[in-house]
Amino acid sequence: GKGAAMVTAVAYRLISQKEERQATLDAFRLSKEQLAGVKQRMREEMERGLRKETHDAATVKMLPTYVRSTPDGTEKGDFLALDLGGTNFRVLLVRVRNGKKRTVEMHNKIYSIPLEAMQGTGEELFDHIVHCIADFLEYMGMKGVALPMGFTFSFPCQQNSLDEGILLKWTKGFKATGCEGEDVVRLLKDAIHRREEFDLDVVAVVNDTVGTMMTCGYEDPCCEVGLIVGTGSNTCYMEEMCNVELVDGDEGRMCVNMEWGAFGDSGCLDDVRTPFDCSVDELSLNPGKQRFEKMISGMYLGEIVRNILIDFTRRGLLFRGRISERLKTRGIFQTKFLSQIESDRLALRQVRSILQHLGLESTCDDSIIVKEVCTAVARRGAQLCGAGLAAVVDKIRENRGLDSLRVTVGVDGTLYKLHPHFSNVLHETVRDLAPNCTVSFLQSEDGSGKGAALITAVACRIREAGQH
Ligand code: GLC
Repeated sequence: GKGAAMVTAVAYRLISQKEERQATLDAFRLSKEQLAGVKQRMREEMERGLRKETHDAATVKMLPTYVRSTPDGTEKGDFLALDLGGTNFRVLLVRVRNGKKRTVEMHNKIYSIPLEAMQGTGEELFDHIVHCIADFLEYMGMKGVALPMGFTFSFPCQQNSLDEGILLKWTKGFKATGCEGEDVVRLLKDAIHRREEFDLDVVAVVNDTVGTMMTCGYEDPCCEVGLIVGTGSNTCYMEEMCNVELVDGDEGRMCVNMEWGAFGDSGCLDDVRTPFDCSVDELSLNPGKQRFEKMISGMYLGEIVRNILIDFTRRGLLFRGRISERLKTRGIFQTKFLSQIESDRLALRQVRSILQHLGLESTCDDSIIVKEVCTAVARRGAQLCGAGLAAVVDKIRENRGLDSLRVTVGVDGTLYKLHPHFSNVLHETVRDLAPNCTVSFLQSEDGSGKGAALITAVACRIREAGQH
């Protein structure tokens, strides 16, 4: 009868809506061939960044870090460290003890960086940083004690020595004026001098990937790669000096900060990018830049999800077709949210309550759809990250002329650590795409800050040895 016909019509509509959504999400499901292609292109971009003739035009910059030796356990002393560029800004005091039982003891304080400082003038930013250092020294009762300092500055820097870092361009949420093209150690020292209260001996500028690799290397000498998947994403690894054409000398190895976030800025990932990636990119602080990072890391995954949800709602496939003000708000889906919603222990009812908490009124079906979108986006991020990492470990293996390689990757970052599936998918992808490498992953505790102190400690050990 008429009733049955209506039921059928409704069922058909639901099925076709489901198909429409799946068609959209299919663009996020990458085949093994596509991922192998991404790995291959990453390899090509690495070569371009390393070579002198191609470096200037290269997008993956492969920056020399002047870190050559890993800690050997004999370093000791007290060091200050600054950590700028992750989720939090921190000042740390790190005590490194040698002897039978090596220990690293840390005290740190987290400070917020107000948006005005992140996106105002460079002077305001560095004045704020120095203000926090002064507060920390006061808090620790250490005013007037001059300690060597390591500065973890997690942005692309061109280095001509360990204690200098010329900011190439801001990434993530920063855009303070007057800093690009400048040595950040100089900017920091100028701010210290403006305050006329204390002096600092800045020994090393360190990328967070490098700090993470060093921290894990303190425990595991096989650790020759550092990976961050947090607000941003990036990798460093030990490259043969003969391949690091920007630095003279062919002996030994040097850690290279890849700045792989910029992979794809040449257009070489256009075939895997979706319209959602493009709109997230276009509305960001740095359009056209850091395209790989924008498909992987915590600062952007939530935005991709939000864009898909808006699209679904516009097409009447979600939230009863009503776009709320909340859904129009940028940045509502943070890493924490993506992680919670995909937690396996979570009942759908709880997913709904998380959505409600965000101000999104949802039905049960809505919450299933939202979770599906989160899964597709996070999974692709982890796979792309894995494809990039597969290129790195295979290059290390080939560098050494080995049929098989065992290597440890030191990892840090909120997405890697908090998300329930990201790390598994990442590991699986590396296994698939680099079958000749056995890769272990070691999570670093506080890698970037501790690592900066360790690098400073190594530099001080070498400096002191040179003076004797
Ligand atoms: C961004 C920065 C890079 C950093 C990464 C992770 O990609 O450019 O230097 O390592 O974020 O924090």
